[in-house]
Amino acid sequence: MNSNYFMPTRVIIGDDCVFGNRALLKELGKRALIVSGKNSARANGSLADLVRALDANGQSYFLYDAVMSNPTVDCIYEAAEAAKREGCEFVAGLGGGSPLDAAKGAAVLALNPVEKSSLFSTSFTTALPIVAVPTTAGTGSEVTPTAVFTNHAAKTKTSIKTPAIFPRYAFLDAKYTLGLSRAITINTAVDALTHAVEGMLSQTAGALTDTLAKESIAVIAGCFGVLRGGRELDIGIRQKLLYAAMLAGMVIANTGTNVVHSMGYSLTYHRNIDHGRANGLIFAEFLKRIEQKEENSDSKRIPVILSCLKVKSLDEFSGILDGLFGKKESFTAAELEQYAEQASGARSIANGIFRFEKEELLDIFKKSMG
Ligand SMILES: [Fe+2]
Repeated sequence: MNSNYFMPTRVIIGDDCVFGNRALLKELGKRALIVSGKNSARANGSLADLVRALDANGQSYFLYDAVMSNPTVDCIYEAAEAAKREGCEFVAGLGGGSPLDAAKGAAVLALNPVEKSSLFSTSFTTALPIVAVPTTAGTGSEVTPTAVFTNHAAKTKTSIKTPAIFPRYAFLDAKYTLGLSRAITINTAVDALTHAVEGMLSQTAGALTDTLAKESIAVIAGCFGVLRGGRELDIGIRQKLLYAAMLAGMVIANTGTNVVHSMGYSLTYHRNIDHGRANGLIFAEFLKRIEQKEENSDSKRIPVILSCLKVKSLDEFSGILDGLFGKKESFTAAELEQYAEQASGARSIANGIFRFEKEELLDIFKKSMG
């Protein structure tokens, strides 16, 4: 058995865990940069809880609340400038993947002044301490060393990766996710599912990441019925999804993502399709391709994944995804050609256990959107 696993984030799960564990924040510094989107951290109560904790500790803060979805390089430079100008000693991200990743970017750039043009080619080793409070159940960014940004120069999303941006603390309180719409909940759950599955199909998968991935897949699959149906997405389901998304984050913290994310980024960049939905649209056809490749290989991962999903075949799984996502967007042949070309050049596509040529990516796009 081989395994090499590292994830230094202290994960705290539970009702009112931010305020209840406020003593942990004290050691991080006198002043925080809080990073969030415009409205959600106010609406879901996470901002009020964090401010209450900081106030009780006698700590001050500056709020940078201008993070858009799929944050741009300009956005994180602006947040980092705020951190420096305001003398912030640590960064607290509140939100889905976008604010959490922006918080990580700001934490790095506050200590490392680099030109925008060399952001993605620089190896960073330092960052301000980071606190992550996820308010969606998908990204897993609260336990990863990665932050993803919209890279207009490359016309896609590009990441920075360094152990320095593992959050010091991740506070998981599912009540912040109660107000999310069913569509957002489905998109984020499927994003987490792709993290777990891509992790199992990574060259760097090991015994520990497989264990985390299998548990994550099983928990999310157990929520499919409620996600699809008209039943209320209550706190019990919310807790399961937040937990499963964090487990999947622990997987990709060590394996990274690969083919599905490389392909999905094009759909998000060019057509503004939500990240989780973009991955979900191509997910089943990608897995069918893996199944074909496994026929002539020692790798037998698909049967394990199907067993965790509690389905008999990838056709059955494809039907579940169709039920969750409804009518798919339509694309021209030229668009799909462009996306396949772009995805084939993505750094992370080589992380998978099988090599995918551009023609195969195009075929997956065509079959998925057909
Ligand atoms: Fe993702």
